[in-house]
Amino acid sequence: MIVLGLESSCDETAAALVDGNRTILAQRIAGQEEAHRPYGGVVPEIAARAHVDRLAPLVEDVMAEAGLGFGDLDAVAATAGPGLIGGVMVGLVTGKALALASGKPLVAVNHLEGHALSARLADPGLEFPYLLLLTSGGHCQLLGVEGVGRYRRLATTIDDAAGEAFDKVAKILGLGFPGGPAVERAARDGNPKAVPLPRPLVGSGDSNFSFAGLKSAVLRAAGGSVPDLAASFQQAVVDCLVDRTRIALGRMPEATRLVVAGGVAANGAIRAALQRLADDSGIGFTAPPLALCTDNAAMIAWAGIERLRAGYTDALDVPARARWPL
Ligand code: KG4
Ligand code: ZN
Repeated sequence: MIVLGLESSCDETAAALVDGNRTILAQRIAGQEEAHRPYGGVVPEIAARAHVDRLAPLVEDVMAEAGLGFGDLDAVAATAGPGLIGGVMVGLVTGKALALASGKPLVAVNHLEGHALSARLADPGLEFPYLLLLTSGGHCQLLGVEGVGRYRRLATTIDDAAGEAFDKVAKILGLGFPGGPAVERAARDGNPKAVPLPRPLVGSGDSNFSFAGLKSAVLRAAGGSVPDLAASFQQAVVDCLVDRTRIALGRMPEATRLVVAGGVAANGAIRAALQRLADDSGIGFTAPPLALCTDNAAMIAWAGIERLRAGYTDALDVPARARWPL
């Protein structure tokens, strides 16, 4: 089985070919950091226009690299939401056109499902059910992943996503865009105990997240050592993620593993702390390789394979959705 995946829901334009044996036959990602950097964040219309320019040539490239024609595909999978609607529309309509022209089925993939199943692309031994910490620029959720299309939301953020907090703190500290990797780099030279910062919701009975107050506290503390502020902020995020995930593990005794996915899962301190939590809890831990954590099309192609195997395909009138809870 071979599926072409398309991703364009935020600021990465991506195409990938993945087969049923979990082999990524070819993949291309075109980032847009340069275009958005002057604005300190993703500008939706600039992103959508860049997807229009780039997506079709990337598809051409992956097909050529794999030496395949569209007739060789088993399906076309495209992100249909959630995300910046202009970008989602570009990828979804491209997927529809390719499916129509090739006579192959279309699989409309929820971007969050792509992240949720990305760990199964990386780890053939990862079975359902598992507890997923999905943490990215737009989302911060704990999900019980019970099967393909079967997700139970155990917790979510009541304000900002963790990645959003990294991006805003990077802006406050003058570290530029995108913020997550810049904060992580700066934190390496800082003392995580230097600046006292709050741990919102830590100790509360539910496992929800909150990062807005933490960001405001960094704003109030700004002016001191940037590495110390970055390290203290990162440690506060680590403590919140670990505490909330520990509570959720207690509420999901049937989970066989703890899994982290999404762009923030690329952070080394966060991965290490979750590994320790899993060890202490006597449960396995899976974190996909960094390139599968941030937005990519291989995870969309893989979610397409999983959905196709489960018997799900979509009609050509399936809508693009800016909001689409799992
Ligand atoms: O999953 P993703 O690529 O896009 C969304 O679906 O949101 O996640 C992007 C987010 C950004 O907020 C970025 O700052 C954050 O992930 N991120 C990181 C790191 N790399 C990316 N946050 C912390 N540490 C990192 N190393
Ligand atoms: Zn994402």
